[in-house]
Formats: sequence, C-alpha cells, structure tokens
Amino acid sequence: MKLAFIGCGRIASVHAKSVIKYVSDTKHPIEIVALIDTNLESAEEFKSKYNLSCKIFTQLEEATQETALDSVIISVPHYLHEDLALRAFSQKLNVLLEKPMAHTLDSAHRILDQSRRSDNIFMIAENSQYWPEILKVKDLLLDGVIGEVVTAKASFRQASDKDIFDSYSVLKGDTESKAWRYSLAAAGGGITIDGGAHWIRPLRIWFGEIKETFCKFSYPHPLMEGESLSQAIFTFENSVTAIFEGILTEKTVFSKDYPFRITGTRGEIMVGPEGYGVYIFDQEHPDGFQLFDRHGYNSSFYHQFHDFYSCIVLGKTPNASAEYSLGEMKVALAMEKSNIEKMWVTPHKIN
Ligand SMILES: NC(=O)c1ccc[n+]([C@@H]2O[C@H](COP(=O)([O-])OP(=O)(O)OC[C@H]3O[C@@H](n4cnc5c(N)ncnc54)[C@H](O)[C@@H]3O)[C@@H](O)[C@H]2O)c1
Repeated sequence: MKLAFIGCGRIASVHAKSVIKYVSDTKHPIEIVALIDTNLESAEEFKSKYNLSCKIFTQLEEATQETALDSVIISVPHYLHEDLALRAFSQKLNVLLEKPMAHTLDSAHRILDQSRRSDNIFMIAENSQYWPEILKVKDLLLDGVIGEVVTAKASFRQASDKDIFDSYSVLKGDTESKAWRYSLAAAGGGITIDGGAHWIRPLRIWFGEIKETFCKFSYPHPLMEGESLSQAIFTFENSVTAIFEGILTEKTVFSKDYPFRITGTRGEIMVGPEGYGVYIFDQEHPDGFQLFDRHGYNSSFYHQFHDFYSCIVLGKTPNASAEYSLGEMKVALAMEKSNIEKMWVTPHKIN
C-alpha cells in the first residue's frame, strides 16, 4: 500500500499514529508516500512530528503524478468531503473518508453514486464501529449478561478548549476568523452530526435501527451556529428505548461519568469514564466489576485501518458499508426536524 493523508489536521494525527503502529506491529508493506494539505505549514509540522520521509503537496493530482499513491485517508472539513472524495475516485484510489460522509445528504448521495462506479475500496471512517469496548458490550448483550435490555443512555460531552476542538482550521474569505466546525454551512450541522455520531453508532450496533426520535436542540456554545446541546429519545425497531445527549461547551470541566449505560432486567453494563473499560453491575457485583480491559476510543483507529488494509489486500468487504454510515446522518437530520416540528420523526424517512 502506498498511502497519502489528505488533510493533516487534528484527526489525521490519530490516523497517522495508528498507521505507524500498525506497520510496526505487522510489518505489512505500507508506505506513507505523500501528505496533501492546502496549508503547507500543517503538512510540514505533521511530517516532522511523525518523522516521515514522504513528499508534501497542496493538490491531490500533483501527488498522484509524482508518487505511486494508491490509497488515501481524507480528513478535511465536512464541506470539502465531496470534492476530495470524487477527485480521489477519479484517480482510482482506495478511500477512507472521515465521517460524516458529507455536510449534506445530497452531497453524500453524490459521493455514494460515484463510489459505486469505482472498483476500489471506499470506507467511511466511523471508528466507533471498531471501538473494542463497544464490541465487547455487543457480545455481552448477546450473551444476556444483564437479562433483557430495557433502556440505554449515551452521553457525548466535550469542551472546546480540550481534545479535538482546540485546533481546527479556519474558513477562508469573509468568515476567516471562524473555525469551520462552528459554521453551519461548512459543518452541515452541530454537535450531533459531528462528535455525537460516534455515540449514535454504538446504539445502532447494539440495538439495530432507530425507529423514531424526539429531540430538543439548544445553543450553549457562544460560537457554534449549529446545536451545541442535543438531547433526544430514541426508540429502536427491537422496542428498546435510549436517551442520547451530545454537548459542546467552551470550558466546562465534566465529571468522570460513564459515556454509555445499558440497563437490563438483571443489571447494568457501563462503558467506563472517557470510554475506557467495560463494567458490570449485577447481584454478584453490586459495586461494579471491570469485565474488560481499558482499550479506549482512539484504539479503534488501529482496528479501522486494519479493516481498510484488509479490504484492499484481501478483497474483503468493510465491517460497515459506506451506505450504513448514512444512518447517523439521517438520525441527526431527523433530530433537527424533531427539534423544529416538535414531533417524533422517523430517520429512515429522511431523504
Ligand atoms: N473520528 C473522530 O473521532 C474524529 C475526530 C475529529 C474529526 N473528525 C473528522 O475528521 C475530519 C477533519 O477534522 P479535523 O478535526 O481533523 O479538522 P482540522 O481542521 O483539524 O484539519 C483539517 C485539515 O484539512 C486541511 N485542508 C483544508 N482544506 C483542504 C483541501 N482542500 N485539501 C487538503 N487539505 C485541506 C486543513 O488545512 C487542515 O490541516 C472531519 O470530517 C471531522 O468530522 C473525526
């Protein structure tokens, strides 16, 4: 594999660390041959941080002309996903495109249409699909360790002075001072379509498709045009109900709460604080017991890259199709509609 990163911002770093570890562990013939970023400074910094010996470009087409590039990881602002994905397809590259597929559903459909004309691998990087804690919970639920599932709660909470929100690039032109994530036009939504999606995918993995949602949006973050607080009830096709909460504030210090809690007829399963470890509370363990090691959210990127690489070299299909990732976009849009119309909305009817 001859790999390039398109976009060398915050999340590309997490991908890079995973690829470097994967190559070191497996010794597979994978080479990072190019960094492509319209901000050359970002690319230079990235190159030196990861001690890479690759070339730097501002345009994908220059990179394909000058290197034997065959695969890309695209990590750019949402409104640029379509342009870069379509250009990558036309260069006959395998594409791992960051979520959400696009900033609008129409744009996502255009990407999907083109991807179907490509013989190469196209995956959406919804890394929660590979998050070890989430997969362990899936097995525990299948084994019935907490009896019959009654309900669940998913809580995504972030402060913009921490983690990924401290470094996103700004938009050009008259909105120069605005980070793209705060712009409704550039991001296509608020916290739900963005970080919230990683908390919606686990619920879909455990309980199937969301049948209906009722939602309220609020705007506590002073800079964010889209919703920065999103609170919803989900009902699932299998009759389970869940509560979802996504919140972005400027500086809140959050308590070390459980990001996921699943309540059954015999006990509760929790994903541990900050996404590490899985815990059970039941009659045998009324004070809780750690059932699964601490892997964490970021470890999912390693497994996601393994899937991408395996699809390319072994011809397997991705663990989750690109079409499936439209699910989180439709849920986010259904929540937006519910917030406006103050009624229950069915995500799969959103087109
Ligand atoms: N899976 C996750 O946990 C996770 C976390 C954060 C971000 N993301 C997703 O990753 C994507 C990028 O987010 P980010 O936080 O890394 O953003 P960022 O702003 O930190 O980085 C974006 C990079 O893209 C570059 N760029 C902009 N226009 C470009 C173009 N035309 N060609 C090439 N490069 C260009 C910018 O210069 C910047 O370096 C988004 O889709 C976001 O939703 C996913």
